[in-house]
Amino acid sequence: MRMKYFYQQMLAFFAVMTTLLIIMTIVFLEFTRNSTYRDTEEMLFGYAEALIDGDLDEEQLENTQFVLHNQEVVITVFDNRNEMVYPNTSIPYSSGISNQNFAQLKNGEKITLSFQDKDFFGNQLEIALVYMPFFSKSDGTFSGFIGISSPISGIEENLREMRSNLFTAFLVSALGAILMGLFFARYQVGRINRLRSATHQVAKGDFDIHLDSDDRDEIDDLANDFNSMTQSLRASQEEIERQEERRRQFMADAAHEMRTPLTTINGLLEGLEHDMIPENQKKRSVQLMRDETRRLIRLVNENLDYEKIRSNQIRLTKRTFNAHDAVRSLVEPLKGKADASNNQIQVACPEDLEVYADYDRFIQILYNLVQNAIQFTTDGVITIAAEQETEGSKFIVTDTGIGMTKEQARNIWERYYKADVSRMSTKYGESGLGLAIVQQLVQLHGGKITVESTLGEGSTFTIFFPSEQSGKSN
Ligand SMILES: Nc1ncnc2c1ncn2[C@@H]1O[C@H](COP(=O)(O)OP(=O)(O)OP(=O)(O)O)[C@@H](O)[C@H]1O
Ligand SMILES: [Mg+2]
Repeated sequence: MRMKYFYQQMLAFFAVMTTLLIIMTIVFLEFTRNSTYRDTEEMLFGYAEALIDGDLDEEQLENTQFVLHNQEVVITVFDNRNEMVYPNTSIPYSSGISNQNFAQLKNGEKITLSFQDKDFFGNQLEIALVYMPFFSKSDGTFSGFIGISSPISGIEENLREMRSNLFTAFLVSALGAILMGLFFARYQVGRINRLRSATHQVAKGDFDIHLDSDDRDEIDDLANDFNSMTQSLRASQEEIERQEERRRQFMADAAHEMRTPLTTINGLLEGLEHDMIPENQKKRSVQLMRDETRRLIRLVNENLDYEKIRSNQIRLTKRTFNAHDAVRSLVEPLKGKADASNNQIQVACPEDLEVYADYDRFIQILYNLVQNAIQFTTDGVITIAAEQETEGSKFIVTDTGIGMTKEQARNIWERYYKADVSRMSTKYGESGLGLAIVQQLVQLHGGKITVESTLGEGSTFTIFFPSEQSGKSN
C-alpha cells in the first residue's frame, strides 16, 4: 500500500496517543471502582462493629436502620444456626449464604460480597454486602453474624463523569497529536524533498551539489552519505575527463611522432618508384628507410611498454645483485656513442655495492639516463656515481652538457616532451618517451628519481632504490 510519509507520521502519532489514552482510561476506571468498593465496605464494617459493640440492642438496631434507611442500607442479624433474628419476621428465614462462608464466619472471618441488582426504575445497581460474626461475651462461642448491605453509592455517576472527562482529554490529545504530527511530518517531508531534488540534480549530471547537515538524525546521516557519494562521483568524473584528455593527447602525439618517419619513408619510396634517386644514392635511401622503420617499431614498442608499466601489467623480478658489475656492463656498449661526440664516461661505484631491483629494468633505467647525457653533451664528462645509503642505494648520473631551465626540468617526465622542439629525429631517434618510462619504472621499484640542472652547465639525475629489507618493512 502506498501512503505518503506525511500520513504515516500522523497515523503513528495518533495510534500512540489513542493506545495511551485507552490504557489510562481502563486503569483509571478500575482504580476508581475498586476504591469506591473499598470505601463502602469499610463504612459497612464500621456500622457492623458499632452495632456489635452495642450488644445488638433491638432499639439501637431500629434507630440505625431508620437513620441509614435513606442510604438504602439494610441491616440483618442471624443467629448461630444461620437463621434470621432481625428484622423480626414470623416466617423463619435463613441467610442463604454458602456453607463455606458460614464456616468462615464461625472462624471469626469477615466476608464481603457484591452483586448486581436493579433499582426501582430498572437502573443497574451494584450492591455491596458484608458479613461480620459476633461471639458470646461470656464464653466467646460463635453466637451469630450481622449482615449489612448497601448500594455502592454514586459509583455510576463517578464513572460517567470520569468517562466524559477522559473523552474530553482524548479529544484534546487527538487534536494535539494531529498538530504535532502535522508539524513533524511537514518538517521531515521537507527534508526528504530536499534530498530528492538533490538526487534529481545528480541524475542530471550536476555533482557540485552539497547538502547541509547538522548530524542530528538518520536523515542527516543520509545527507552526509549523499555528500560523500557526490564527492566520489565528482572525483571519478574528473578522472574520466583526465583520462580522456590523456588519451586525446596521446593520439595526437603518437600521430605526430609517426608522421615524420612515415613521410620520410613515403618520399623515398616515391623517389624509387619514379627512378628519381641516382643509383649511387639508392643504397643510402634504403638504409634511411630501414632506420626510420626501426624508429617506428621502437616508438610502438616503447609506447606499449609505457602503457603496460602504467597499468601495472608488468611484473618485476627483483633480486639483490652487484651494482658495480651491472653499471660496467651497461657503459660498455655506450662508449662508442660517447666517443662520437667526444665525451668521456667515468664510473665511480664501490665494487661491493649491492642494489635490489629487476636487473633488466635497472639496466634500462640507467642506460636511458646515460644515453640522454651523451645525447645532450659534446666534449664533456659523464659521471656515473653510486653510493650506499641506510635504506638502499643511490645512483647519480651527471653530465656537463647543455642543461635545462627549471621549467624544462619540471616537464621532462611527460610523455613526448622534448625541451627543444626543433630537435626532431637525430642519430638516436628521440621520441620523448625515455624519461617517462624511466620515472614509471623507478616508481614501480618503490624508488625515487630527481633532477637538478642548470642551463648551459649540465644536469644531474639522482635515483634511489630501496633495499630488500627496507622495502619489506614498508
Ligand atoms: N641530460 C640531459 N641534459 C639536457 N636535457 C635533457 C637531458 N635528459 C633529458 N633532457 C631533456 O628531456 C627531454 C626528454 O627526455 P627523454 O629521454 O624522455 O626523451 P628523448 O631523449 O628526447 O627521447 P627518447 O629517450 O624517447 O629517445 C629531452 O628531449 C631533453 O630535452
Ligand atoms: Mg632519452
